[in-house]
Amino acid sequence: MSAVLFVTGGAGFIGSSFVLQEVARGSRVITLDALTYAGNLANLSALRDSENHVFVHGKIGDGALVASLLATHRPDAIVHFAAESHVDRSIHSAASFVETNVVGSFRLLEAARAYWSTLDAEAAARFRFVHVSTDEVYGSLEPDDPPFCETTAYAPNSPYAASKAASDHFARAAFHTHGLPVIITHCSNNYGPRQFPEKLIPLMILNAVERKPLPVYGDGRNVRDWIYVGDHCEALGAIVRDGRPGEVYDVGGGAEMANIEVVHRICDLVDEFVPDARGPRRALVSFVADRPGHDRRYAIDSAKIRRELGWTPRETFDSGLRRTVRWYLEHPTWVAEVRSGDYRRWIELNYGARGGGRT
Ligand code: NAD
Ligand code: TYD
Repeated sequence: MSAVLFVTGGAGFIGSSFVLQEVARGSRVITLDALTYAGNLANLSALRDSENHVFVHGKIGDGALVASLLATHRPDAIVHFAAESHVDRSIHSAASFVETNVVGSFRLLEAARAYWSTLDAEAAARFRFVHVSTDEVYGSLEPDDPPFCETTAYAPNSPYAASKAASDHFARAAFHTHGLPVIITHCSNNYGPRQFPEKLIPLMILNAVERKPLPVYGDGRNVRDWIYVGDHCEALGAIVRDGRPGEVYDVGGGAEMANIEVVHRICDLVDEFVPDARGPRRALVSFVADRPGHDRRYAIDSAKIRRELGWTPRETFDSGLRRTVRWYLEHPTWVAEVRSGDYRRWIELNYGARGGGRT
């Protein structure tokens, strides 16, 4: 089905992958993005001449702007990615997380509800609001705990996770109280092309290429369940088309791995693609002060979306990581542009006081 989709945060990492996927499928997409430090129009440059893509620079919390865009473009679905997304930044300052993730999401839901109430019965029944959330709202698992699933209780531990949990509750309430056809998703850690290099995998790839220290927090034994971004976006596409309103779908890559193992694999791939006589990049690993409140383990049970929507990830961690390392090596201009003055200030703020050097 070709559809009109209103995508928030579509200039970011996952949003841009979703927008590219959906335009390629024949959908018409309206992207609303505030272009914060994490938003980058270069992520959508392939769509510059596309008649099926409209980019609007603005905030999800701007009710008048969102109302007018919805009235003009009359989308079949809103897919809401826009957020402040980095845990470490939320530890330094959470104000923008409350502003965007909580207040912004609430205002977006209100605008969606007002628009939805103008639709005829058939269009209103077809409409979807897909709220893209994270497994981090569930807190942290012990080594032998079963993975998170749709009925796991909320226990957010970081300011980022708390802000996402708060927005999930408003999204849920919009369905239960007002009938807005909301679907909430919780996905595990994404990786892939166009991820801002403040996050573990792209940071480590770029540092390894340049033979800079690889700052691993704590003992490096924290576990994440990695999913290739394209697989997450295919899950979201299936949810937009066939997901049931009021439902929650948890999406994971089935690839649990300790951080130190992820970093070692990145080192080995960079050694393979960019051989260096100075020796293996694993020697660059530097254990640094841990993140406060660092969740030990995340893992997702995706049985529901696999069963109900027939979704399954295509990439293994090995194949996805190989594609990802290659992408960063092949896009030096993208990398140079995102590592601006603001990026350098962040690196100094986050890593300056952590110490390190132990390998
Ligand atoms: P990102 O930080 O790369 O992109 C966020 C985008 O939102 C940017 O383009 C930014 O400019 C935009 N934005 C921020 N504030 C805005 C505002 N007020 N109005 C409009 N646009 C605004 O994030 P990402 O990694 O692509 O994550 C996208 C969504 O997926 C987030 O909601 C995140 O919580 C969720 N998620 C991410 C992961 C992950 O591993 N990255 C996993 C699960 C869920
Ligand atoms: P991150 O990519 O920030 O995702 P999240 O915190 O949302 O899971 O971090 C992934 C894991 O990598 C997490 O356990 C923290 C760890 N990490 C490091 O060890 N060093 C780093 O420099 C970064 C950014 C993350």
